[in-house]
Amino acid sequence: MLSSADRFTTKLARFPRLGLAHLPTPLEPMKRLTAHLGGPRLWVKREDCTGVGLGGNKLRKLDTVLSEAVAAGADTLVSGGVVQSNSQRQVAAAAAKLGFDCHLAVYHGRLAPPSPDYEKTGNALLNRLFGATLHDVPWNGDRNGAIRDLADRLRAAGRTPYLVPYGVSNPLGAVAYASTVTEIAAQAETLGFTPHSIVHCSGSGATQAGLVVGARACLPDTKIVGIDIDAEPERVRADVLAYGGGAADLLDQPFVPDDVEVVAGHAGPAYGVPHAATVEAMKLGARLEALVLDPVYSGKGLAGLIALIEAGRWHKDQDVIFVHTGGAPALFAYRHLFD
Ligand SMILES: Cc1ncc(COP(=O)(O)O)c(C=O)c1O
Repeated sequence: MLSSADRFTTKLARFPRLGLAHLPTPLEPMKRLTAHLGGPRLWVKREDCTGVGLGGNKLRKLDTVLSEAVAAGADTLVSGGVVQSNSQRQVAAAAAKLGFDCHLAVYHGRLAPPSPDYEKTGNALLNRLFGATLHDVPWNGDRNGAIRDLADRLRAAGRTPYLVPYGVSNPLGAVAYASTVTEIAAQAETLGFTPHSIVHCSGSGATQAGLVVGARACLPDTKIVGIDIDAEPERVRADVLAYGGGAADLLDQPFVPDDVEVVAGHAGPAYGVPHAATVEAMKLGARLEALVLDPVYSGKGLAGLIALIEAGRWHKDQDVIFVHTGGAPALFAYRHLFD
């Protein structure tokens, strides 16, 4: 008789993957950070190690989502994001690897440039290196509007575009991300523990949606804790609910809205603007665990985890996994924080 986790793995296997991302990613103990904080036992799931184009959590989504682009006979990937978006850098890298042209709507104005070379370094540099064509557009709060417009223009010009949504977040992206939990379940079993909680930063929503759907199937006693890094916890929660519900439908799995926990209060003043706790968490992660976190996503995520530990959420004998979702290239656009 198959276990619920085995049945779930079989269902996930119905969604083809391109083999783009380096999977499974490692699950490692964080012994020095655990000792420094006095417990719980901390682990890190290295989603920053997905390989292609310096890696990150979007590669796992793209691995499945871009199967649709291949099947549709697309010749061009179209996506978008802010100037230092990790998502669009991973789309640009995937396009280079798979042989697609890549056009990106680059949003200006969601945040004031934090440094003079913000537009030229880090992910912005890598987008150019991967050969993407960049289209500057003003940010108006509609994450997918300019991406759709760009795809329409390319179609009218005779191209066959495939639209990758902002953050690679849609129900299929969440299905793809649910595979993280099947990996964690197998790795944790080998290592001899059951995670009490999995903590990660949450933005466009499909990462958390996938983790929630996957945990219900494979680790039903494990809590998924999303740290809002957008300073928009209600919007994040609504998107996680939408993509999680959609992914559960695609997989014919249960979806329980109460499984969605989005923790507010650790995003700093605004998206892309780090606060002192972010920088402190980044230094701790680097100096105790050699982790390269970033000031927009993973640094805020670790700051949230540390704050929850300090507030007494877990006791010493529990195991908590932090998902390192990547983002290191953006660090170079914020180098003044470490002068
Ligand atoms: C480094 C990093 N971590 C976390 C996230 C958040 O993932 P999601 O947008 O799926 O919520 C992103 C998304 O842009 C990211 O680039």
